[in-house]
Amino acid sequence: MTTLIYPGSFDPMTTGHLDIAKRASKLCDKLIVAVLANAAKRPFFTIEERVEMARIALDDIENIEVESFDGLLADFYRQRKANAVIRGLRSESDFRFEAEIAAANKMLLSTFETCLMPCRTDLAFTSSSIVREVGSYGGDISGMVPESILKFVADKLKDARLTDLQLE
Ligand code: PNS
Repeated sequence: MTTLIYPGSFDPMTTGHLDIAKRASKLCDKLIVAVLANAAKRPFFTIEERVEMARIALDDIENIEVESFDGLLADFYRQRKANAVIRGLRSESDFRFEAEIAAANKMLLSTFETCLMPCRTDLAFTSSSIVREVGSYGGDISGMVPESILKFVADKLKDARLTDLQLE
């Protein structure tokens, strides 16, 4: 049984994340979408909201499970007996960051494997931080987030003050 983990903050899940999760789910028996609870980045959406949004967006894919995790990804990887972690790649700057965390995870756990999956070119500029920024001004975020969670995300962002948002 092949188990892949797709980790992230998913603050909120975007159409880019959805595309990677769907494609990755075809490469394994089980895909665990692992939502990082601990928040060095101070997420805008709560961990419960981020998990629930991912569950709703991925509901129709049988071999996907959504869980939250805390602490080191390498520990979660060992506990879940994963075969690899999958991460989406949008750009060269993503590559640099991903190469660094892949190397750190390999040092923590020698069996840790990281697979980088290029995103769809039309989604190369979609990110959770852009969604948060556009949504906070009441801008149109359809197409940037899965249809099934669009209203929830748009409503919550519209109500937020800009200072509540972490805009990288
Ligand atoms: O969606 P993100 O914020 O780019 O996801 C980053 C994530 C969750 C993959 C990364 O921050 C992570 O794995 N954090 C858990 C802590 C950890 O294991 N750090 C060591 C690797 S540097």
